[in-house]
Amino acid sequence: MHKGKNGKIWFLGRSYQEYVKMFSLKEEELRDIRILDCAAGASSFTPHLLKKGYDSTAVDILYGKSVEETKQQCVNDFHTLMKMHAGLTHKVDWSFFQDPEDMVQQRISVYEEFLDSYAQYKDERYIKAALPELPFGDNSFDLVLSSHLLFIYEDRLGYDFHRDSILEMLRITSSEVRIYPILKLHGESESSFLPSLMDELGDKADFNMEKVDYQFRRGSDEMLKINKK
Ligand SMILES: C[S@@+](CC[C@H](N)C(=O)[O-])C[C@H]1O[C@@H](n2cnc3c(N)ncnc32)[C@H](O)[C@@H]1O
Repeated sequence: MHKGKNGKIWFLGRSYQEYVKMFSLKEEELRDIRILDCAAGASSFTPHLLKKGYDSTAVDILYGKSVEETKQQCVNDFHTLMKMHAGLTHKVDWSFFQDPEDMVQQRISVYEEFLDSYAQYKDERYIKAALPELPFGDNSFDLVLSSHLLFIYEDRLGYDFHRDSILEMLRITSSEVRIYPILKLHGESESSFLPSLMDELGDKADFNMEKVDYQFRRGSDEMLKINKK
């Protein structure tokens, strides 16, 4: 796990199906575009798309390790996190998963799918890099997705990190960046950085919040769409 300034940011992974809902995606619209998932962790989003022959790349600060080390990291972080979450089930919306046990089983399948794909495409599609600096040229992708890194960890990743990360993702996309969720980790409220970010970056991009058909933590049913001007 990566230690943020005041705590840990877990190497976790959500499924392709969760990404589709978190970001209101339609698979057919992804077919002919270049997609980047940043920071992707042990998600099965890119693995699923690579299996289908789509052009998806994943970035994470913790990539670059051997498959065995990465597997250990998935297992350790997953089990620690599940223990921490045990008392929080009342804060969770159980419409996506049937119940806590279903969630555990699905999340294990997700990191197993990720590990298979990581073993196969480690050097081409799973790139070790750290926001706010990404090793890609301008307009290298058409859609950049970022799930569960920005905004929720605003207690340990400061305003400048958020601004510079959004600017960097805008630099490498030809068109759009989507971020989910926009809630703080332990709060029910939106990130306190959002209004200032929209104000400061408003001449470079259009910011729109959109309702999505997904929420795990109750109240987190909005994503942020950022379109380059
Ligand atoms: C909570 S996980 C989210 C993973 C995935 N996007 C999802 O929603 O399932 C956050 C990920 O961010 C990665 N990370 C933390 N700081 C980062 C940085 N500065 N640049 C890139 N990745 C980072 C962590 O290693 C971790 O895998």
